[in-house]
Amino acid sequence: MAMTDPDNLVAAASAEFEAAPTPAELENAKARYLGRSGGVTELLKSLASLPAEQKKTRGAEINQAKARIEAALHARREALAEAELEAQLKAQALDVSLPGRQRGAGGLHPVSRTLERIEAIFASMGFDVAEGPEIETDWMSFTALNNPENHPARSMQDTFYVDLKDAEGRWLNLRPHTSPMQVRYARAHAAKYAGLQARGERVPEIRVIAPGRVYRVDSDATHSPMFHQVEGLWIGENVSFKDLKVVFTGFVREFFETADFDVRFRPSFFPFTEPSAEIDIAFRSGPLAGKWLEVAGSGQVHPSVVRNFGLDPEHHIGFAFGMGPDRLAMLRYGIDDLRLMFDGDLRFLSQFR
Ligand code: DAH
Repeated sequence: MAMTDPDNLVAAASAEFEAAPTPAELENAKARYLGRSGGVTELLKSLASLPAEQKKTRGAEINQAKARIEAALHARREALAEAELEAQLKAQALDVSLPGRQRGAGGLHPVSRTLERIEAIFASMGFDVAEGPEIETDWMSFTALNNPENHPARSMQDTFYVDLKDAEGRWLNLRPHTSPMQVRYARAHAAKYAGLQARGERVPEIRVIAPGRVYRVDSDATHSPMFHQVEGLWIGENVSFKDLKVVFTGFVREFFETADFDVRFRPSFFPFTEPSAEIDIAFRSGPLAGKWLEVAGSGQVHPSVVRNFGLDPEHHIGFAFGMGPDRLAMLRYGIDDLRLMFDGDLRFLSQFR
């Protein structure tokens, strides 16, 4: 085929492009026609030897041929790119019917929900909510709360000690109850109103709950080395057991959303209260009907403890209580093993989402 004929050149180029199996080979073929020493360039060079009157028509022919070759090149490039994409898609075939991976919806732990509920109910009764340290001094955990030096609760069998003393040389422990928060909160309160007290004027009353984690050397189906308590304290000029009964009964009614229960104050002993009582409740209907359930310890705050608050027990009197929200959550949700609460098993926890 005479390559001096533009039409032949176009036909040859088109055939070669069409036959190029890969983009690389296509680019090689392109060089042979459109490159610096390719067929088109050769044709253009040959123009020089033509007489002037032929140059114009011949030149136009060559340019047309060049445009057609370029068009053929583009068409093949696109065809190859498309084929490659097609092959790629086939190779990485997606199963669009496969369910996607979902991000699991989280939720609050049943204990957190219970704490939030307790806080909201007490807040509605005018109680402040306070949190305090889980590493406490021996003084706050025991001494300030009127525990004698040799009280068994101080023993290492019951309390986790930290092998450290604070700046004043007091041993530290993981607080075994939230009761030290009575002392911390009340002392801050007394300090704030020291001026009023000094002038014998009325100090605003204290109404606070303190929820949080507590620790004891204890572990079985009903005891966990870490559990939760909510401390309550109401100190005023004339706050009595009657107020405790009203507040606590109101709380139980709100918490369990029923008035169908009885409350019983059972005489007991705590070093920091006098008199002291366990608070039991019994539902009158439902699966737990008729069973007395112990829900809190309570009592009138002992005068020595009021003194440790930095307040004068002649003018400040009131009650305290301590309850177990884990236990309340178990009662509310019908959970029978405390350990489920702290195992972190999603099969259990996801039921509370
Ligand atoms: N701190 C006690 C305990 O851990 C519970 C308690 C009882 C708290 C009586 C109180 C109270 O405030 O008045 O067993």
